[in-house]
Amino acid sequence: MKKRNLIAACAIAALTTMSIQAQTPIYLDKNQPIEDRVQDALSRMTLEEKVAMTHAQSKFSSPGVPRLGIPELWWCDGPHGVRAEIEWNSWGYANWTNDSITAFPALTCLAATWNPELSYAYGDALGAEARYRKKDIILGPGVNMYRHPLNGRNFEYMGEDPYLASIMVVPYIKGVQQNGVATSTKHYVLNDQEKWRGHINVEISDRALHEIYLPPFKAAVVDGEGWTIMGAYNKVRGQHACHNELLLNEILKNDWGFDGVVVTDWGGAHDTKEAALYGLDVEMGSYTNGLTSESDFGYNDYYLADPYLAMLKSGEVPMSTVDDKASRILRLIFRTAMNPDRPWGSQATPEHAAVARTVGEEGIVLLRNEPVAKKSTPLLPLDASKYNKILVVGENASRSLTQGGGSSELKPKEEISPLAGLQAIYGNKISYAAGYKAGRSMYGNVEIITQAVEDSLRAEAVAMAKDADLVIYVGGLNKNHEQDCEAGDRITYSLPFAQDQLIEEILAVNPNMVMTLLSGNAVEMPWVNRVPAILQSWYLGSQAGNAIANVLSGAVNPSGKLPFSFPKKLEDNGAIHFGEMSYPGDSINQTYLEDILVGYRWHDTKKIPALYPFGYGLSYTIFEYSKPEISTNKLLPSETATVKVKVRNTGKVAGKEVVQLYISDKKSSLPRPEKELKGFQKVDLQPGEEKEVIFTITPAELSYYDDARHEWVAEPGIFEALIGASSTDIKGKARFELVF
Ligand code: BGC
Repeated sequence: MKKRNLIAACAIAALTTMSIQAQTPIYLDKNQPIEDRVQDALSRMTLEEKVAMTHAQSKFSSPGVPRLGIPELWWCDGPHGVRAEIEWNSWGYANWTNDSITAFPALTCLAATWNPELSYAYGDALGAEARYRKKDIILGPGVNMYRHPLNGRNFEYMGEDPYLASIMVVPYIKGVQQNGVATSTKHYVLNDQEKWRGHINVEISDRALHEIYLPPFKAAVVDGEGWTIMGAYNKVRGQHACHNELLLNEILKNDWGFDGVVVTDWGGAHDTKEAALYGLDVEMGSYTNGLTSESDFGYNDYYLADPYLAMLKSGEVPMSTVDDKASRILRLIFRTAMNPDRPWGSQATPEHAAVARTVGEEGIVLLRNEPVAKKSTPLLPLDASKYNKILVVGENASRSLTQGGGSSELKPKEEISPLAGLQAIYGNKISYAAGYKAGRSMYGNVEIITQAVEDSLRAEAVAMAKDADLVIYVGGLNKNHEQDCEAGDRITYSLPFAQDQLIEEILAVNPNMVMTLLSGNAVEMPWVNRVPAILQSWYLGSQAGNAIANVLSGAVNPSGKLPFSFPKKLEDNGAIHFGEMSYPGDSINQTYLEDILVGYRWHDTKKIPALYPFGYGLSYTIFEYSKPEISTNKLLPSETATVKVKVRNTGKVAGKEVVQLYISDKKSSLPRPEKELKGFQKVDLQPGEEKEVIFTITPAELSYYDDARHEWVAEPGIFEALIGASSTDIKGKARFELVF
């Protein structure tokens, strides 16, 4: 090149660089405030580009703005691990070979740890896996309240108490989101049954809504600062939850100040105008808008696609609606997909396996631990020297329980079954009989197990049990349709697959039985007083076998506490007690007739004892509680009181105890539950060690929601602070008066 041309070329290059630098748009500059970037990006977008962002482009992605270099968003189930890749435009798995992950324990188990630090570790590990898999949003956590034991999705939620769920959900969200991956707390709200979930209309009092069902979602939004929230399939007070003026515009966005994205549950939108006006931001789904099969352009027919564009153009809905939705989506993109500072993540690491195992170990609840013969010691922990022949019975000992269950299904890199976990400790002392067989069934495709097969499996197990020193029974529910599974509720409260008969026949030949129940729900236990040791072991994911074996062997001292009550019989549950209109409804409507008396609030107030109460769980050691001391017996509304209690481990092994604070309002103008959980702390104690636990009480802990005044109210009068090892095992009380 001639010298003159070279100089000219350099000058042009310099100019171009300068002009590019000078013109770097605000939205691409990570150092600019996020709101300025949102406004800048929005100002550059066409109407069509804004509308495109508000609905899916594939089963699990929604568009960015390709012209502006704004990336698309990838959404992924959730909530117990990063789901395997799904095909672009069908519900089939894509069969990738790089998408095997850590399966973490189900959220019921996480709640049963009563350990917020573990919730943070869980969220952080899950977020790292999501990030490595290039996901921007994890569809979880789930915090619908455990209203009754038939809900097929209770295993994905955090139990029956709004305080427990609120405390546990926040660190999960913080843990996930620090990886630059958003959470999507679901299903907002009152999706408390799977039966008729797509259309059932829930009628509920303001009190029950605000005192029981909303608090965990509020905690997720206000304290957890979750970046997205998923609407529920059902209707609430006549309007679909995914476009609901009260729930989304008034409560979520106005009262709680939510600045993130509301996404439908998949296929949860039903009307363009309502979706435009009543708080929905992104429509995802399948077969939406009356489509019954897949098509390449189906996404254009979504309610928030072409029909929305047409309404905007005709002026039927205001442009401000799409500007608001697009702003929220852009904010989400800057927080996730366009966040250059987010870590790279990691997948299926030993550290994540350790988190999964620890959550499992701390979440397992020891329900019962009796000696087999009088004067001997409790059966657990197992003294291996006493047993030469240990028979493991039950399909759940060997069945993959990360498969099935619906959208929370996982493809773990490793899944250690209970049988494998026990074999690793007890070696060839272990033999195995399935005892029963469930087959696999999803969404109504049921694999039939014949009576002959059932009988022969049972006979084999009973014969082997006769000859064993100890039987470890590993049964419960599974992830089949109408068990712990999405899109259907359980049909009966009792154990399925003729397990009660199997258990009875085994007990008749060998009473040395340890039972470990794998389920996300309470079950009926007609044999309860004849089985010396019972563990509630949930769905524990990749490390299930190790966690169970460590607790049974005593390597880990159990410290889980129930996050929901186990009624003796189904009718003892408050929601079920009121019959069809309360649950499941008449197929169009249902009314939550138990109102605020959910779970232990019902059992306590109505004096209907549960078989195993909320907050209950045994240990291999003994904890002694001192008398609680309160800092004042007259509390002013502007003040706080503290309640102190000392807890001592008087047994021989180290252990953890969950010290619980309940508040009881002795007299109030509106009916209140007998007591409500308002604090808890998990303490770790060596043998002989004592620790002081301090709770703070403010008027907020004393309040109820006054539906006439539409606000939380603390009334003057006498209250009791109850310190308990469960909701019924109250160790001490302190009385005080709220004075105005
Ligand atoms: C479930 C959601 C899930 C979504 C996507 C729906 O059927 O209710 O919880 O996140 O599918 O798989």
